[in-house]
Amino acid sequence: MGSVWIGSVRMGSVPMEDPPTEGVPMEEPATEGVPRETPPMGGRPGADSPFALEPFALEDLDDARALWERTGMWLRPSDSPEQMALLLARCPDLQLVARDARGVLVGTAMGGWDGRRGYIYHLAVEPAWQRRGVAGALMDELEARLRAKGAMKAKLQILAGNDASRAFFAARGWLPEDDCEPWGKELVPGGAPPAHADPAAPEGLRTRKRG
Ligand SMILES: CC(C)(COP(=O)(O)OP(=O)(O)OC[C@H]1O[C@@H](n2cnc3c(N)ncnc32)[C@H](O)[C@@H]1OP(=O)(O)O)[C@@H](O)C(=O)NCCC(=O)NCCS
Repeated sequence: MGSVWIGSVRMGSVPMEDPPTEGVPMEEPATEGVPRETPPMGGRPGADSPFALEPFALEDLDDARALWERTGMWLRPSDSPEQMALLLARCPDLQLVARDARGVLVGTAMGGWDGRRGYIYHLAVEPAWQRRGVAGALMDELEARLRAKGAMKAKLQILAGNDASRAFFAARGWLPEDDCEPWGKELVPGGAPPAHADPAAPEGLRTRKRG
Protein backbone atom coordinates (compact mmCIF):
# COMPACT_ATOMS: atom_id res chain seq x y z
CA MET A 1 0.00 0.00 0.00
CA GLY A 2 1.56 3.29 -1.11
CA SER A 3 1.58 6.53 0.79
CA VAL A 4 2.07 10.17 0.02
CA TRP A 5 3.14 12.92 2.34
CA ILE A 6 0.97 15.97 2.49
CA GLY A 7 2.75 18.65 4.43
CA SER A 8 3.77 16.94 7.61
CA VAL A 9 0.93 14.48 7.19
CA ARG A 10 1.48 11.13 5.55
CA MET A 11 -1.70 9.94 3.92
CA GLY A 12 -2.14 6.21 3.73
CA SER A 13 -3.82 5.22 0.49
CA VAL A 14 -7.10 3.75 1.62
CA PRO A 15 -8.56 1.84 -1.31
CA MET A 16 -11.23 3.79 -3.14
CA GLU A 17 -12.15 4.54 -6.71
CA ASP A 18 -11.17 8.20 -6.79
CA PRO A 19 -8.80 9.23 -4.03
CA PRO A 20 -9.41 12.89 -3.30
CA THR A 21 -6.39 15.04 -3.99
CA GLU A 22 -7.99 18.26 -5.18
CA GLY A 23 -6.98 21.25 -3.16
CA VAL A 24 -4.42 19.33 -1.14
CA PRO A 25 -0.91 20.73 -1.44
CA MET A 26 1.49 17.93 -2.25
CA GLU A 27 5.02 18.19 -0.98
CA GLU A 28 7.99 15.95 -1.32
CA PRO A 29 7.35 12.23 -0.94
CA ALA A 30 8.89 10.33 1.92
CA THR A 31 9.78 6.71 2.33
CA GLU A 32 6.84 4.81 3.74
CA GLY A 33 7.06 4.31 7.46
CA VAL A 34 9.96 6.69 7.90
CA PRO A 35 8.91 9.87 9.69
CA ARG A 36 10.49 13.14 8.73
CA GLU A 37 11.39 13.89 12.30
CA THR A 38 11.39 11.76 15.35
CA PRO A 39 9.64 13.37 18.29
CA PRO A 40 11.14 12.87 21.74
CA MET A 41 10.21 9.52 23.20
CA GLY A 42 7.51 9.56 25.80
CA GLY A 43 6.98 13.32 25.88
CA ARG A 44 4.31 15.58 24.50
CA PRO A 45 4.53 16.01 20.76
CA GLY A 46 6.28 19.13 19.58
CA ALA A 47 4.35 21.84 17.81
CA ASP A 48 5.48 20.52 14.42
CA SER A 49 5.52 16.82 15.24
CA PRO A 50 4.46 14.84 12.20
CA PHE A 51 1.49 12.57 12.11
CA ALA A 52 0.15 10.28 9.45
CA LEU A 53 -3.34 9.41 8.32
CA GLU A 54 -3.78 5.76 7.51
CA PRO A 55 -6.56 3.24 6.99
CA PHE A 56 -8.25 2.04 10.17
CA ALA A 57 -7.63 -1.70 10.36
CA LEU A 58 -9.29 -4.36 12.47
CA GLU A 59 -6.06 -4.60 14.47
CA ASP A 60 -6.48 -0.96 15.48
CA LEU A 61 -9.72 -1.58 17.33
CA ASP A 62 -8.19 -2.22 20.75
CA ASP A 63 -6.03 0.91 20.64
CA ALA A 64 -8.95 2.91 19.27
CA ARG A 65 -11.22 1.72 22.05
CA ALA A 66 -8.63 2.74 24.64
CA LEU A 67 -8.37 6.16 23.00
CA TRP A 68 -12.15 6.59 22.98
CA GLU A 69 -12.23 5.76 26.67
CA ARG A 70 -9.37 8.17 27.42
CA THR A 71 -11.14 10.97 25.59
CA GLY A 72 -14.33 10.39 27.54
CA MET A 73 -16.50 9.25 24.67
CA TRP A 74 -19.77 7.63 25.52
CA LEU A 75 -19.51 4.00 24.45
CA ARG A 76 -22.47 1.72 24.09
CA PRO A 77 -23.13 -1.82 22.93
CA SER A 78 -22.88 -0.75 19.31
CA ASP A 79 -19.24 0.18 19.99
CA SER A 80 -18.23 -3.41 20.67
CA PRO A 81 -15.39 -4.74 18.52
CA GLU A 82 -17.86 -6.93 16.65
CA GLN A 83 -20.08 -3.97 15.81
CA MET A 84 -17.20 -1.73 14.83
CA ALA A 85 -15.88 -4.52 12.60
CA LEU A 86 -19.16 -4.36 10.68
CA LEU A 87 -18.56 -0.70 9.90
CA LEU A 88 -14.95 -1.37 8.93
CA ALA A 89 -16.12 -4.06 6.54
CA ARG A 90 -19.00 -2.04 5.07
CA CYS A 91 -17.14 1.23 4.41
CA PRO A 92 -13.44 0.40 4.66
CA ASP A 93 -12.36 3.50 2.76
CA LEU A 94 -14.12 5.79 5.23
CA GLN A 95 -12.28 4.59 8.31
CA LEU A 96 -9.14 6.52 9.23
CA VAL A 97 -6.59 6.65 11.99
CA ALA A 98 -3.87 9.17 12.74
CA ARG A 99 -0.53 7.91 14.00
CA ASP A 100 2.47 9.63 15.46
CA ALA A 101 5.94 9.14 14.02
CA ARG A 102 6.37 5.96 16.03
CA GLY A 103 3.14 4.52 14.69
CA VAL A 104 1.16 5.05 17.88
CA LEU A 105 -2.51 5.66 17.20
CA VAL A 106 -3.37 9.23 18.19
CA GLY A 107 -6.66 9.83 16.41
CA THR A 108 -9.63 8.17 14.78
CA ALA A 109 -12.42 9.18 12.45
CA MET A 110 -15.03 6.81 11.10
CA GLY A 111 -17.48 7.43 8.32
CA GLY A 112 -20.62 5.85 6.99
CA TRP A 113 -22.30 6.17 3.61
CA ASP A 114 -25.69 4.66 2.95
CA GLY A 115 -26.13 6.00 -0.57
CA ARG A 116 -27.84 9.15 0.63
CA ARG A 117 -26.17 10.68 3.69
CA GLY A 118 -22.68 10.60 5.00
CA TYR A 119 -22.27 9.95 8.70
CA ILE A 120 -19.39 10.76 10.99
CA TYR A 121 -18.61 8.61 13.99
CA HIS A 122 -15.90 8.41 16.61
CA LEU A 123 -13.80 11.40 15.85
CA ALA A 124 -11.29 11.45 18.69
CA VAL A 125 -7.77 12.73 19.24
CA GLU A 126 -5.33 11.78 21.96
CA PRO A 127 -5.40 14.63 24.52
CA ALA A 128 -1.67 15.37 24.17
CA TRP A 129 -2.21 15.78 20.43
CA GLN A 130 -5.26 18.00 20.58
CA ARG A 131 -5.23 21.50 19.06
CA ARG A 132 -2.58 20.44 16.55
CA GLY A 133 -4.84 19.95 13.58
CA VAL A 134 -5.15 16.17 13.80
CA ALA A 135 -8.96 16.14 13.85
CA GLY A 136 -8.98 18.78 11.14
CA ALA A 137 -6.81 16.60 8.90
CA LEU A 138 -8.95 13.54 9.61
CA MET A 139 -12.14 15.43 8.82
CA ASP A 140 -10.70 17.08 5.69
CA GLU A 141 -9.96 13.62 4.36
CA LEU A 142 -13.22 12.04 5.46
CA GLU A 143 -15.35 14.86 4.04
CA ALA A 144 -13.43 14.66 0.74
CA ARG A 145 -13.97 10.93 0.56
CA LEU A 146 -17.68 11.28 1.24
CA ARG A 147 -17.93 14.00 -1.39
CA ALA A 148 -16.14 11.76 -3.88
CA LYS A 149 -18.78 9.09 -3.32
CA GLY A 150 -21.54 11.53 -4.16
CA ALA A 151 -22.59 12.48 -0.67
CA MET A 152 -24.16 15.94 -0.64
CA LYS A 153 -24.74 16.05 3.09
CA ALA A 154 -23.12 14.55 6.16
CA LYS A 155 -24.51 14.23 9.66
CA LEU A 156 -23.22 13.55 13.11
CA GLN A 157 -24.34 13.57 16.72
CA ILE A 158 -22.75 15.63 19.46
CA LEU A 159 -23.81 14.90 22.99
CA ALA A 160 -25.11 17.89 24.90
CA GLY A 161 -22.30 19.53 26.87
CA ASN A 162 -19.49 18.51 24.55
CA ASP A 163 -18.33 22.07 23.96
CA ALA A 164 -14.97 21.13 22.42
CA SER A 165 -16.69 19.09 19.76
CA ARG A 166 -19.26 21.81 19.11
CA ALA A 167 -16.46 24.38 18.73
CA PHE A 168 -14.49 22.07 16.46
CA PHE A 169 -17.36 21.35 14.09
CA ALA A 170 -18.64 24.92 14.15
CA ALA A 171 -15.18 26.08 13.08
CA ARG A 172 -15.50 23.73 10.08
CA GLY A 173 -18.85 25.08 8.99
CA TRP A 174 -21.05 22.42 10.56
CA LEU A 175 -24.28 23.67 12.10
CA PRO A 176 -26.67 22.34 14.70
CA GLU A 177 -29.92 21.43 12.97
CA ASP A 178 -32.64 22.56 15.30
CA ASP A 179 -35.29 22.58 12.61
CA CYS A 180 -35.78 18.88 13.14
CA GLU A 181 -35.50 16.66 16.18
CA PRO A 182 -33.02 13.80 16.13
CA TRP A 183 -35.00 10.65 16.85
CA GLY A 184 -33.70 7.18 17.40
CA LYS A 185 -34.56 3.83 18.82
CA GLU A 186 -32.30 1.55 20.78
CA LEU A 187 -32.68 -1.81 19.08
CA VAL A 188 -30.83 -3.57 21.88
CA PRO A 189 -30.88 -2.77 25.60
CA GLY A 190 -28.17 -0.65 27.15
CA GLY A 191 -27.55 1.88 24.44
CA ALA A 192 -29.41 4.86 25.77
CA PRO A 193 -27.54 7.95 26.99
CA PRO A 194 -27.59 8.69 30.71
CA ALA A 195 -30.64 10.93 30.60
CA HIS A 196 -32.62 8.10 29.08
CA ALA A 197 -30.72 5.28 30.70
CA ASP A 198 -32.31 1.91 30.46
CA PRO A 199 -32.57 0.64 34.04
CA ALA A 200 -32.31 -2.89 32.73
CA ALA A 201 -28.87 -2.23 31.28
CA PRO A 202 -25.73 -3.36 33.10
CA GLU A 203 -24.26 -0.60 35.24
CA GLY A 204 -21.19 -0.11 33.04
CA LEU A 205 -23.33 0.51 30.02
CA ARG A 206 -25.43 3.10 31.74
CA THR A 207 -22.53 5.34 32.65
CA ARG A 208 -22.41 8.56 30.74
CA LYS A 209 -19.90 9.54 28.20
CA ARG A 210 -19.48 12.37 25.82
CA GLY A 211 -19.45 11.36 22.23
C1 LIG B 1 -13.12 17.49 19.32
C2 LIG B 1 -11.70 16.95 19.04
C3 LIG B 1 -11.82 15.71 18.14
C4 LIG B 1 -10.88 18.05 18.31
O1 LIG B 1 -9.61 17.49 17.96
P1 LIG B 1 -8.33 18.39 17.69
O2 LIG B 1 -7.33 17.55 16.99
O3 LIG B 1 -7.90 19.02 18.95
O4 LIG B 1 -8.89 19.52 16.72
P2 LIG B 1 -8.03 20.49 15.78
O5 LIG B 1 -6.68 20.71 16.36
O6 LIG B 1 -8.07 19.99 14.37
O7 LIG B 1 -8.90 21.83 15.93
C5 LIG B 1 -9.27 22.62 14.80
C6 LIG B 1 -10.04 23.82 15.30
O8 LIG B 1 -11.26 23.40 15.96
C7 LIG B 1 -11.53 24.28 17.06
N1 LIG B 1 -11.36 23.56 18.32
C8 LIG B 1 -10.88 22.31 18.51
N2 LIG B 1 -10.91 21.98 19.81
C9 LIG B 1 -11.42 23.03 20.46
C10 LIG B 1 -11.70 23.29 21.83
N3 LIG B 1 -11.43 22.38 22.79
N4 LIG B 1 -12.22 24.49 22.16
C11 LIG B 1 -12.46 25.43 21.23
N5 LIG B 1 -12.22 25.23 19.90
C12 LIG B 1 -11.71 24.05 19.53
C13 LIG B 1 -10.49 25.40 16.96
O9 LIG B 1 -11.01 26.38 16.08
C14 LIG B 1 -9.32 24.66 16.31
O10 LIG B 1 -8.41 25.52 15.68
P3 LIG B 1 -7.22 26.23 16.54
O11 LIG B 1 -6.57 25.16 17.37
O12 LIG B 1 -6.33 26.79 15.48
O13 LIG B 1 -7.90 27.26 17.40
C15 LIG B 1 -10.95 16.61 20.36
O14 LIG B 1 -11.15 17.67 21.29
C16 LIG B 1 -11.41 15.32 21.02
O15 LIG B 1 -10.90 14.25 20.70
N6 LIG B 1 -12.37 15.39 21.96
C17 LIG B 1 -12.83 14.21 22.71
C18 LIG B 1 -13.64 13.24 21.86
C19 LIG B 1 -14.86 13.91 21.27
O16 LIG B 1 -15.59 14.61 21.95
N7 LIG B 1 -15.06 13.71 19.96
C20 LIG B 1 -16.16 14.30 19.22
C21 LIG B 1 -17.36 13.41 19.22
S1 LIG B 1 -18.74 14.19 18.39
